[in-house]
Amino acid sequence: MNHEGEKVIDEGRQGEFLVKETSANSSRKMLIESYGCQMNFSDSEIVASILSEAGFSTTKDVEEAELILLNTCAIRDNAEQKVRNRLQFFRSLKKKRPELMVGVLGCMAERLREKLLEEEKLVDLVVGPDAYRDLPNLINSVEQGQKAVNVLLSREETYAEINPVRLGGNGVTAFISIMRGCDNMCSFCVVPFTRGRERSRDPESIISEAAELFENGYREVTLLGQNVDSYKWNMTSKGEVTDPSKPTLNFAGLLARVAQVNPDLRVRFSTSHPKDMSDEVLETMASYENICNYIHLPVQSGNSAVLQRMNRGYSREWYLDRIDAIRRIIPGCAISTDIIAGFCGETEEEHLETLSLMREVKYDMAYMFMYSERPRTLAERKYDDDIPEDVKGRRLREIIDLQMSHSSDRTAAMVGRVHKVLVEGTSKRSESELYGRNSENVVTVFPKKDLKPGMYVNILATNCTATTLIGEVVE
Ligand code: SAH
Ligand code: SF4
Ligand code: F3S
Repeated sequence: MNHEGEKVIDEGRQGEFLVKETSANSSRKMLIESYGCQMNFSDSEIVASILSEAGFSTTKDVEEAELILLNTCAIRDNAEQKVRNRLQFFRSLKKKRPELMVGVLGCMAERLREKLLEEEKLVDLVVGPDAYRDLPNLINSVEQGQKAVNVLLSREETYAEINPVRLGGNGVTAFISIMRGCDNMCSFCVVPFTRGRERSRDPESIISEAAELFENGYREVTLLGQNVDSYKWNMTSKGEVTDPSKPTLNFAGLLARVAQVNPDLRVRFSTSHPKDMSDEVLETMASYENICNYIHLPVQSGNSAVLQRMNRGYSREWYLDRIDAIRRIIPGCAISTDIIAGFCGETEEEHLETLSLMREVKYDMAYMFMYSERPRTLAERKYDDDIPEDVKGRRLREIIDLQMSHSSDRTAAMVGRVHKVLVEGTSKRSESELYGRNSENVVTVFPKKDLKPGMYVNILATNCTATTLIGEVVE
């Protein structure tokens, strides 16, 4: 997530929670906590929208809430443990207030289904990511004294026309979901099981959401999907036109359409998949000033044999060719990645290849994880999770240490230059300072003066910490 003061090692990205609030004054109160990736945070805004129609507004106050929803993540075991601990806390609340309704949404709900009701006795409601439209009915059933479950996955659902309730944001940056699900079947990954088949959202609804956000003062949108490069409208997965009377659109085309909404609307996107990222997308990025110079391109491993066991669909050489293409087409573009340490059968030499690839690319930022075996995945069925925890831990440490030095080099190299920064809000460090990000997604802190969130300012970076620029406004 792109919060101020983003850490180099943000292992909590897929597991942090945020308590969010809307200000509608309807009588019934609910609390939504979101864990996991940006898609989940975006989904919580869809849930808030669906439930506001049913008379619920959000609160941060646990005591006031009559409905508590946890939008959960199943990506690694520790992400699930976090949710289980949180449910323990709600158990004590429910003892005092038996009428309190507790629901589990998202990827853990989809993975565990009815089992969740058996394992976590206090849970009343289990709802998978494609079943949120059914929430009002399900809540009704709970109020009639039944437990309610809907974990049906859909091939069509994109919640296209639902206008998300923007929760707890800064009024400047927002997420727009452009697709759901994933068809890739990386062998370590639970997402295809929890999110179902890949499907793209109607581009017209994406453009109108972006335009409406701009009209409401937002100045940055992040287009979200598990593999945005495979966005396709009016095309089958093989690229054949579905309806010849209508236009087709790929990700490069969509990106251009969103960039055209307004030159003052910044566009970001996540996540790019190395096997699908085309030069056409890079050229589109290069030709619009408002598409940010930042690509998140998860590599997972620097060794081709490991990549093959991971079923990633590319080799080390292919990946490095994509990096070259980025450097050639968008000079100065920031690149971040995800890395998994200690995947099944990873030898010391294979691990060293990850470190050597990192040295070649010099990532601006990285999310780094120890491999965590997930039920039902290809890796669980096919390979032994045979790297001892202490070895996984040591390899992860080496990866993190190297990345920290690269990240601080990157930040230091930005000092002395002027950056166009979008002001997002008041700095955590001081009331008299604001923060925002440059195009390369680096958090920048500067004196408040009479600046306001939503403005673009030119900041001369005069100093830095390991990950943050410190600067002053220049003309
Ligand atoms: N769709 C994105 C990734 C989504 S999950 C992509 O393909 O890049 C975010 C990250 O979590 C992954 O990139 C991977 O690094 C990590 N991850 C996924 N499954 C994992 C597992 N079983 N153990 C450890 N890390 C995992
Ligand atoms: Fe998981 Fe791979 Fe899909 Fe990413 S592309 S969500 S890692 S299966
Ligand atoms: Fe987690 Fe589901 Fe996202 S498993 S990472 S919340 S798609």
